[in-house]
Amino acid sequence: MCATLFDPPNRFTSLEQLLEVMMKMNDDPLSSSGSNVVICRGNPLAKLMVVGEAPGPEENRQGKPFVGRSGQLLDQILQAVKFDPEQDVFITNSVFRMPPGEGGQAFRKPLADEIAFYRPYVMEIVRLVDPKVIVLTGGVAAASLLHEKLGITKIRGRWVEWQNKWVMPIFHPSYLLRNPVRTPGSPKALTWQDIQAVRQKYDELVGSEQ
Ligand code: URA
Ligand code: URA
Repeated sequence: MCATLFDPPNRFTSLEQLLEVMMKMNDDPLSSSGSNVVICRGNPLAKLMVVGEAPGPEENRQGKPFVGRSGQLLDQILQAVKFDPEQDVFITNSVFRMPPGEGGQAFRKPLADEIAFYRPYVMEIVRLVDPKVIVLTGGVAAASLLHEKLGITKIRGRWVEWQNKWVMPIFHPSYLLRNPVRTPGSPKALTWQDIQAVRQKYDELVGSEQ
C-alpha cells in the first residue's frame, strides 16, 4: 500500500499529513525489526536539514532520530558552529525503521532495496520542509538522495547542487565515534572543516533573511 502512495508523486499537501500516513506504515520492509516508525525531530521550518542513515535501538525506543550516542555527537557538531539542533535544524533519516541486528551488532546497515523503498518518503519530506542546505551524514544518505555509489570518504566535503538546494555529504557521527583521533586530516578534523563550510553557506543563503 505505502509503496503506491507516491504514484503520482507530490501527493501530500503538508508535512503533518505525510507524517500521519507514515506513522501508519505496516507493510514496509523493516517492519519486523523496528517496532516504531522513526521519522524526524527538530524544526519543520528550519532551512537546514540533516539526513542520516537509520534508527538504532535508542531511536526505536524513543521514536525520534539521532537520540543515542551518534545523535549526541551530531548535536555537538551542530552546536560547535552555533546551530541549535531543535530550532535551526530538521533532522531525519534515509530509512524509517531500525534494521535487524547482524554479526553481534545491534543493527546492520540498510540494504539497497530497503533504501529504495523509503526513498520516496525522504524525497517527500525534503519537498515539504524545503530546506536550503542539506547535510548528509554517511554513505547511506548519499545513496538515498543522490544515488551516490562512491564511498563517503571520496565525496565528503564537496557541495552538490541538487533540486535548488546545497547538499554537503559528511562522515557519519558513528564513524567519528569509532575514529576519535583529531590529528590533521583525520575524519574528525575533516568533519570540523565540513561543518564550518555548512555554517558559511547557511549564512550566505539564510543569514540575511533572519
Ligand atoms: N544513526 C543514524 O543515522 N540515524 C539515527 O537516527 C541514529 C543513528
Ligand atoms: N568536528 C569535530 O571534530 N569537533 C567538533 O567539535 C565539531 C566537529
